[in-house]
Amino acid sequence: MKLICVKDAAEMSAYAAKQIGDAVRRNPKLVLGLATGGTPKETYRLLVEEYNKKAISFRNVRTVNLDEYVGLSSADPNSYRMYMKQNLFDKIDISFDNCHLPDGIASSPSDACVRYDRMINELNGIDLQLLGIGRNGHIGFNEPGTPFDAGTHLVKLSESTRKANARYFHSEEEVPKQAITMGIGTILKSRAILLIVSGSSKADAMGRLLSLNGPDPAFPASALLMHPDVTVIADREALSKSK
Ligand code: F6R
Repeated sequence: MKLICVKDAAEMSAYAAKQIGDAVRRNPKLVLGLATGGTPKETYRLLVEEYNKKAISFRNVRTVNLDEYVGLSSADPNSYRMYMKQNLFDKIDISFDNCHLPDGIASSPSDACVRYDRMINELNGIDLQLLGIGRNGHIGFNEPGTPFDAGTHLVKLSESTRKANARYFHSEEEVPKQAITMGIGTILKSRAILLIVSGSSKADAMGRLLSLNGPDPAFPASALLMHPDVTVIADREALSKSK
């Protein structure tokens, strides 16, 4: 695991946008794994800026998102598809046919999970997967205890994750109770992984990740220790409890 220490969220985002931009310039047909949440927003804004400057094109890029809430239609303002449209897809030249998220309103979520992994295989896997980390170490919606070999699956969201995500909803009750997430096994099959972390609320998680001697399913992000090509970009606050 390569650790890049940066000053703050702005530097983290600039670094991540540069890594992703360079990967797309090297391979215009890149299969790019994407995350939602607060952490990657500025990275996406910088990629849009690059696109507006004609420094990058996403015309042939394929994207696969980590997760989607169950029960929210793609038009729901809190769906992750809507987040991706608002923060990235609607602002660049990507083809919507190339943008994939799990189907949160499938009549059979378990079939939707199988279809999602099959679709990723048909794309020949993920070239570069962008990740954030939850305070409890979750990646995607893989909560503590998730087996490291799991494929895309249906999850019941933990109370702490629902609380953390309630800021985007009118109330905590509105936060869906389930989601479909790429499994840790799916994530680990990516050829390269970029984990971005900022802020003091992530300091405990980073401290734990960097002090572990090996992977431990009680702390999902520790699965990344098993992967040969992981870059972590973390700011000073996120690293304030790391030795
Ligand atoms: C989002 C996702 C989550 C987030 C994590 C951190 O698609 O899979 O694992 O990356 O919850 O969220 P933020 O960035 O809001 O702190």
